[in-house]
Amino acid sequence: MQESRELWNNKIGFIMAAAGSAIGLGNIWRFPYMTGQNGGAAFVLTYVIFVVLIGFAAMLAELSLGRRTNKNALGAFTAVVPGTKWRYVGGLGIFTGIAILSFYSVIAGWTVGYMFKTIGGVFSHIPNAQYLADVFTGFSANPVSAILLHGLFIFLTVFVVMGGVSKGIERWSRILMPLLFAILLLLVIRALTLGAGVKEGLAFYLKPDFSQINAGTILMALGQALFSLSLGMGTMITYGSYISKSDNLVSSAASVAFFDTLIALMAGLAIFPALFANGLNPAGGAGLVFMVFPMIFEKIPGGMIFGAGFFILLSIAALTSTISLLEVPVSYLIDERKWSRKIAAIAAGVLAFILGIPSAISQGASDFFSNLPLIHISFLDFMNIAFGNYALTIGSFFIALFVGWKWGIKNAVKEVEDGNPVFGYRKMWSFTLRFLAPICILITMIYLAWTGNFF
Ligand code: TRP
Repeated sequence: MQESRELWNNKIGFIMAAAGSAIGLGNIWRFPYMTGQNGGAAFVLTYVIFVVLIGFAAMLAELSLGRRTNKNALGAFTAVVPGTKWRYVGGLGIFTGIAILSFYSVIAGWTVGYMFKTIGGVFSHIPNAQYLADVFTGFSANPVSAILLHGLFIFLTVFVVMGGVSKGIERWSRILMPLLFAILLLLVIRALTLGAGVKEGLAFYLKPDFSQINAGTILMALGQALFSLSLGMGTMITYGSYISKSDNLVSSAASVAFFDTLIALMAGLAIFPALFANGLNPAGGAGLVFMVFPMIFEKIPGGMIFGAGFFILLSIAALTSTISLLEVPVSYLIDERKWSRKIAAIAAGVLAFILGIPSAISQGASDFFSNLPLIHISFLDFMNIAFGNYALTIGSFFIALFVGWKWGIKNAVKEVEDGNPVFGYRKMWSFTLRFLAPICILITMIYLAWTGNFF
């Protein structure tokens, strides 16, 4: 007899776990860095529009498919239509999970490293902005620490995932997110009171210059929305499969999307004023937040303690995200291939570790991986954009079509209405999944292919 599937302890447990998956480096590291590279406020606005218009609908689609089928990212498709070719969408998601995990844990490793640096007093006296750039470059170009910290992070992720769903994930997510929020609030307040440069920073971040928008930035904003909400690869299908039938999917999805976006917007509100106040370049790339946050902490009494606390909490926020990435291949291997949870977690973790090594040495340690032929970006940037943007966008495109047409919007609505009898958003949801989201994605993809500017 099949064992009954483990469920989240209750609705709050699920929201905390899903928010734990959504909130992570995507909000605090990736969002400011993408905003800085893609034109500031116009990008922010596009991102928020995508969260509301497409992200929320896509999240509801994944959750309802997961809860209906009680299956993993691939099994959910075949549970609806046995043997269907749509399972390749699930397959893409499973691989994308490992690919994102591979570079994500490199950045998470940097976060751990920065916690030690902060405790060690590296940032207690900052002579100038160049100093921070030098610290970052020196640190990220060191292959030994980069690979070791990446390995450490994968190890922690595997360790938690081996422990199973509700006990492992929920316990972590519950207590620590509010603390992270509090420190972030402190950072925002300090950054806004830095004086010179704050105005320019706010203008860059909040006053849209629409000439900055093109197919590339639109797709980056969509990719960022999906990445930040953990969509497009079956994380929310997998997490949805652990939700009880009596929970309200609509309000759960809405709270997750709301808090996730709030945290990202706050991170930007701390970063950009501080960045301009110190004359740094907003398009500084993957190291951006590692150069800016220490600067703000230095200007806060007891900043070393807040700084170390911040990097610890950010590492934990990253961990609740990496476990949701690893859980996708793991639950596939358990359900469909009958592997034990332990072996599945270890095997997928080892794969992500190996795949992450080129990313770990792509910030100066290896010339080849730091500047790939043809596209002239680092391997880490390549993985971030290829999987963090395009694979998720393609995944969401097919998930929307699958739920909207193949599984059928009627069935999907029925699933949502379990636990939420008054589903006022029904018509709009149906329209978004069947038409709006797929058409938007298709048009920007075609336009981008036309201009040929993929990276
Ligand atoms: N959303 C997480 C973040 O913002 C990262 C993440 C976890 C993710 N699971 C995902 C991204 C699934 C895409 C898909 O840090």
